[in-house]
Amino acid sequence: MAGSAYHEASLGHYQSTKRFDAVKRLYEEPLTTANAVAALERCSHEPVEVVDLGCGTADGYRLLSSANPGRSFNYTGVDIDTSMITAAANAYGNVATFIEANLLDATSIPADIYVSFGVPFSHLTPKEFMSFLSGLGEHVQKAKKTIHLVIDVLGRYSVEWSQHWDKFCWGYPMSFFEDTQTPPTCQMTFHTPDSITEAFAEAEQNTGARFADRQFIDRSPLVGRHTKTSQLDPTTARYRAHLNALFSGSAVQEDDLSFPSKTPDDSDAQTSYNALRAEWEDLLLKHDFSERTGASWVTLAHGLIAAISRAPAGGIGHSLLATTTVEPSRS
Ligand SMILES: C[S@@+](CC[C@H](N)C(=O)[O-])C[C@H]1O[C@@H](n2cnc3c(N)ncnc32)[C@H](O)[C@@H]1O
Repeated sequence: MAGSAYHEASLGHYQSTKRFDAVKRLYEEPLTTANAVAALERCSHEPVEVVDLGCGTADGYRLLSSANPGRSFNYTGVDIDTSMITAAANAYGNVATFIEANLLDATSIPADIYVSFGVPFSHLTPKEFMSFLSGLGEHVQKAKKTIHLVIDVLGRYSVEWSQHWDKFCWGYPMSFFEDTQTPPTCQMTFHTPDSITEAFAEAEQNTGARFADRQFIDRSPLVGRHTKTSQLDPTTARYRAHLNALFSGSAVQEDDLSFPSKTPDDSDAQTSYNALRAEWEDLLLKHDFSERTGASWVTLAHGLIAAISRAPAGGIGHSLLATTTVEPSRS
């Protein structure tokens, strides 16, 4: 598929170096990579056949190969968009394979593990998401082969879009795109650990395959990319911009880091927010804001990111990582 406004702007963003801010380099990429490497370690033989769904410009290949996962792997990137596949092949065509296809058809590509990065599964409607999971379950049953899966989706209850917490699908403006004059808007689906657990259960019922060993991680609660500008919701503090400033050793006002007062109705999301709030506010209380040395700001940044990393998953991050092992039924 070639040339939609989304894909044109998206290519510009993914090729821009401006997106590599401190939060991305020091927290998001190591977390995403460690999660994918842990999923790779679930595979029992080598080389592991890795298929990256919605690969874009193949950031997944860059992350996995730079992590040196201690396991040899062959990488195939799949994307629906011609310009993404062309850019990916230009960058890594000598070491990886790229296929232009809809990820809904990807189970025809042999894999030990399907990974995804940068929320491609949120481009699917709930019905398409179910169709993917059921297709995977059927494939696993037919081939009698275990396949590992890493799903990356937008978190429903991120503080970045509290005005949309009552809906699971809405028109999402890509206002975080770097080097883009007119950011496109896409209909996207937002998830929680519960919504994914329900989808896994339905796929199990439809196919008989087991979606086992499920793990969920919220990535970037509070510091999602929309809090670099607060364009999406001007009432939300610019936590990401402030964390970037702290990481560079610059001063930030205590008030600018105040924990958000909004709370979603969902009980898992409330548990996550409350756990994070307790740690976040404790760190602010203990930090000496009068010290004003570069080192003290950097220490605070690391403390806040560590608190974010420990929060239990509740769909409160910019994105939600869900990992499972899909096994054929034993009968
Ligand atoms: C936000 S980008 C992420 C790209 C890349 N994984 C990364 O992390 O940089 C989402 C990608 O998913 C792709 N995509 C969306 N729907 C898709 C589908 N149904 N099948 C395959 N690719 C899809 C888009 O073309 C886009 O390249």
